[in-house]
Amino acid sequence: MGAGLYVHIPFCVKKCSYCDFNSFCVESMLGEREVFLDYLIRELRMQTLRLRDKSLSSIFIGGGTPSLLQSQEMHQLMDAIHANFKVEAGAEITMEANPKTLSEAKLRDMRSLGINRLSMGLQAAQNHILQLLGRVHTYEDFVENYKQARKAGFENINIDVMFSIPTQTIGEWVDTLCKVTGLEPEHISAYSLIVEEGTKMQSLIDQGILNELDERSDRRMYHACRSFLRKKGYAQYEISNFARVGYESRHNIMYWKCSDYLGLGPGAHSYIGGERFCNLEGLREYFESIDKDVVPIESSNKLILKDKIEEAMFMGLRMNEGVDLQVLSKKLGADLKGMYSKKIEKLVGQRLLKRVVKNGSEMIALTNKGIDLSNSVFVEFLLEDDAM
Ligand SMILES: C[S@@+](CC[C@H](N)C(=O)[O-])C[C@H]1O[C@@H](n2cnc3c(N)ncnc32)[C@H](O)[C@@H]1O
Ligand code: SF4
Repeated sequence: MGAGLYVHIPFCVKKCSYCDFNSFCVESMLGEREVFLDYLIRELRMQTLRLRDKSLSSIFIGGGTPSLLQSQEMHQLMDAIHANFKVEAGAEITMEANPKTLSEAKLRDMRSLGINRLSMGLQAAQNHILQLLGRVHTYEDFVENYKQARKAGFENINIDVMFSIPTQTIGEWVDTLCKVTGLEPEHISAYSLIVEEGTKMQSLIDQGILNELDERSDRRMYHACRSFLRKKGYAQYEISNFARVGYESRHNIMYWKCSDYLGLGPGAHSYIGGERFCNLEGLREYFESIDKDVVPIESSNKLILKDKIEEAMFMGLRMNEGVDLQVLSKKLGADLKGMYSKKIEKLVGQRLLKRVVKNGSEMIALTNKGIDLSNSVFVEFLLEDDAM
């Protein structure tokens, strides 16, 4: 398998009330916005060697709002990627896109540049909820752009939606799922809203203006989502991800399988050859570093075997197919079966884990109860410091 490339575009029309991703309001950063692509491509050239022996099997242009790029800029970016990396024929090339930043012409240009998967953020189908979330679009804007994307030739579209939003009722959530599935996208990501520190939403909750939904409502919405999407022909393949057969996101699977990927852009993360890197988040620091010909990395961490094992378990168990301990033991050069046999026995007894046979291999996977309590299951796979 080849490697993945993530490219971060850190601008949005406006900051959403719940979001703590590394993104800046484009209006207040016009100077930086103007020169950004030039710096991004300079970083790309600096970092090319990190993947020198690898081809790219997936590219994910995320953000922020990458669909704020002009067609000409997307062209420059794709040209730079192709000129500096070996992109496999048939690679999955995704771009995140926000309603109201798209037009039929832009979508056609994106498609002709080889972008073959679109990930559209809808979040909710009710305009009063979109307003509360600080989104700049209505449900009708989204539908219009979605139809334009189909017309432009996108045959692989993901829609992001969220549940557990303050004030959202189960009826509104099911209505969102009903409308989304009615559009027949190939993939749906359904996230439980996390109230992040320092966001406007957290401050509204702290002031008592909004109430966070309780755990019971959150789980009710999640269970409703799973059964609704199953009935509509979407198979769950990860805690928050559902797809028609063959349309699982190859890029995200690379993350969950701890494969190598390079991240470009401010705040982007990379994982290559057992080492994690994180880029500088602030635009000014990012530009300054590139101006000095220094790769804009803020921190790096070479994982020791214990970290690699723990990560492989946490990430792998997010996927419905689970983890093949034999394959992982071989990959990491450690006896994971021996290491975890007692823990697994206990978790199977508690019906948090199950053993599944797939293509003759025994896998361990979370049960439905295990998914609801996934954090407490993952904790069980932490190893003692002197375990290795
Ligand atoms: C980083 S955003 C980028 C996509 C695009 N800018 C958008 O908002 O449509 C990717 C997705 O993460 C999800 N997300 C962002 N903040 C979240 C939060 N606090 N809790 C749960 N999901 C969140 C949203 O569903 C969003 O579409
Ligand atoms: S548009 Fe997406 S990335 Fe930008 S602030 Fe909203 S959720 Fe965050």
